Amino acid sequence: QPRVFSGIQPSGVPTLGNYLGAIRNWVPMQDTHEAIFCVVDLHAITVWQDPKELARQTREMAAALIACGLDPKRCTLFLQSHVHAHTRLAWIMNCVARLGWLNRMTQFKDKAGKDKEAASAGLYVYPNLMAADILTYHATLVPVGDDQRQHLELANDIAQKFNHDYGVEFFPRIEPLIQGVAARVMSLRDGTKKMSKSDPSDQSRINLTDDHDSIAQKIRKARTDAEPLPGHASGLENRPEARNLVGILAAITGTLPENVLREHEGKGFGAFKEVLVAALVAHLDPIRKEMARLLDDPATLDAQLRLGADRAEAVAAPICARAEEIVGFLPRR
Ligand code: TYM
Repeated sequence: QPRVFSGIQPSGVPTLGNYLGAIRNWVPMQDTHEAIFCVVDLHAITVWQDPKELARQTREMAAALIACGLDPKRCTLFLQSHVHAHTRLAWIMNCVARLGWLNRMTQFKDKAGKDKEAASAGLYVYPNLMAADILTYHATLVPVGDDQRQHLELANDIAQKFNHDYGVEFFPRIEPLIQGVAARVMSLRDGTKKMSKSDPSDQSRINLTDDHDSIAQKIRKARTDAEPLPGHASGLENRPEARNLVGILAAITGTLPENVLREHEGKGFGAFKEVLVAALVAHLDPIRKEMARLLDDPATLDAQLRLGADRAEAVAAPICARAEEIVGFLPRR
């Protein structure tokens, strides 16, 4: 049975983009695969995080994942910093990956901004840690949003180079699983930018912690154009904001954009947005309430994460140890 791995950074509240592009697709995989999901706190500190906030957001992210339907009994859910195989294998990956490969990563360029010299070394080697995350479980299926595609290609390059350099068939090929109309949910303020938990404008995104009033307010204010809704997807060309809102409604109601358009053809965005608000609230309200309930009992949450870390470590540690043996490290006897 192929092993599934995916991760999410606790660098903010999970957004509708995280939910539709990733988390929601993880839930059914618990029953069909051995599934491992990780809150990647090591990745989060590649850009500055206030320590108290990071701790709070890490618990909040774990609660969000459980509230969305990940069951700590049916999958392995844990915090990246709890399992040392990630950092140990990441060091080996740092020595396998080539600078030229890292220099091509568009996410580094986006996140580092204008002043590349001031970016952390961690941000630069971020994709190597990601490769280690996946490969230390010999996971082969990685369900992610579209923005992670390039990182997963790099992870495959690293795995192949490791196998080649050491003359082994040790790391398997990774297959990205990028699903559906919501693989790329865009900002509510700018249809050409992705919705992101680290965007400075809270108006650009729906958070899983938003209640009815803030969802309504954000959607009503979301940028659109003046045209009514077309009857076919071809009518959404060069209308990124319109396309995004139609895609969100399709994803949240489990249908295709064509069906949404057929139903709402000719409507203005004022009316369409009210339909969207109602659908979002109906879907997200139970998640928000369950999150609050889980966060009321941090001891139970922490115990679930400890159990998850134990289970993750049992898989990761032997694979990491074998990788260390392959590169020639003497075992500690
Ligand atoms: P992160 O925390 O940015 O996002 C978590 C997941 O949500 C997806 N996603 C989106 N999908 C659709 N539309 C959006 N606007 C949107 N924004 C985010 C992401 O594609 C991702 O699947 N580097 C990863 C975390 C990571 C990881 C890994 C993932 C670390 N190690 C190993 C897979 C395997 C990240 O920053 O995700």
